[in-house]
Amino acid sequence: MILVTGGAGYIGSHVCALLLAMGREVVIADDLSNSGADAVERLEKITGRRPLFCRGDVRDTGFITGVARTYRPECTLHFAGLKAVGESVRRPLAYYDVNVGGTVTLLRALRRYGGRRFVFSSSATVYAPSEVMPLTEESPLGPYNPYGWTKFMAERALLDLVAAEADWRVALLRYFNPVGAHPSGLLGENPRGTPNNLMPRLCDAAAGVTPRLSVFGLDYPTRDGSGVRDYLHVTDLALGHIRAMELLETSAGAHIYNLGTGVGLSVLEMIAAFQAATGIAAPYEVCPRRPGDLAAYYSSPAKAEREMGWKAEKTPADMCGDAWAFYKKSFI
Ligand code: NAD
Ligand code: WQD
Repeated sequence: MILVTGGAGYIGSHVCALLLAMGREVVIADDLSNSGADAVERLEKITGRRPLFCRGDVRDTGFITGVARTYRPECTLHFAGLKAVGESVRRPLAYYDVNVGGTVTLLRALRRYGGRRFVFSSSATVYAPSEVMPLTEESPLGPYNPYGWTKFMAERALLDLVAAEADWRVALLRYFNPVGAHPSGLLGENPRGTPNNLMPRLCDAAAGVTPRLSVFGLDYPTRDGSGVRDYLHVTDLALGHIRAMELLETSAGAHIYNLGTGVGLSVLEMIAAFQAATGIAAPYEVCPRRPGDLAAYYSSPAKAEREMGWKAEKTPADMCGDAWAFYKKSFI
């Protein structure tokens, strides 16, 4: 049995789709604070198999211990968490509580009843701002917002746990910028309220939900002046979790991997890729820089390829085309 916390959410649901298609038994633990119970139906529609579902909060010791005791997962993929950088500045305690406290409560439950293989959703925000690119797993750490610090601390707790108790096997996966949706159009990103990230905002502008996309800054020291990021398709990212899970079957200890394409794309290049994929020229206007944004960062994914045989395959056109197909099906 594989336990997927946050499995009803954007990235977790894509991983569940792969696990179910592989014939694995899956139990999702999710409080549905940022997702809907229909994820279970959608997964069944895609794969023909239905995951088990337990609604509850990973911070609730009784709930999560009950899940571990009942299902005795041999491996846990931990996606449940809060992920909005701006909100983390305004509500730091909520972020430390869920992302750090929730992880510790979950680990305690697994320590008692579950297997000791654990795959953790970390983030490129754990790295210190730098002009040296690409970022490797050895690049200096130093988050610059509370969200990043919560991921840094959860990583630290996991590394200390592996050092103290040799039977734990842990993969820390540092995602760059996940975008896109399941090719079926049934799973995708469903941001509550006003989205912050580029791709959902690009879709809003393409659909006419907003008059135009704000391009935050055209005065960065990049190819065209707009910000550069390492966007990767969510199904490629999902496959990285399967490879990590497989690696932990044979490798002890802690393993850290960047999951990205290794290619930086600018905001203007993403707008152009969106037009090439969908035929829609999303209207945009140049606005001042967004406070806290970095000019450019992208990964070296070489270690993940070397050690896990994982490499992102999908193109920016796939990312934009699939994001738009999901958006049209869900919101128009
Ligand atoms: P998401 O919000 O779509 O999914 C998270 C899921 O966890 C949701 O279904 C939510 O209901 C659930 N959840 C939240 N708090 C919970 C709690 N206390 N108990 C139980 N369930 C809870 O987010 P996502 O984009 O799928 O992100 C998944 C993970 O990946 C998060 O940990 C996030 O920090 C990390 N991550 C995301 C990105 C990104 O850009 N999307 C980048 C790097 C890392
Ligand atoms: C991408 C680029 C913006 C919106 C955040 C988190 C990170 C990770 C992913 C969780 C930047 C520009 C954006 C818009 C724009 N999440 N932009 N107009 O900021 O790289 O990363 O999400 O771990 O931790 O920090 O992603 O999609 O917000 O921005 O011009 O309306 O698009 O300035 O250059 P970001 P993003």
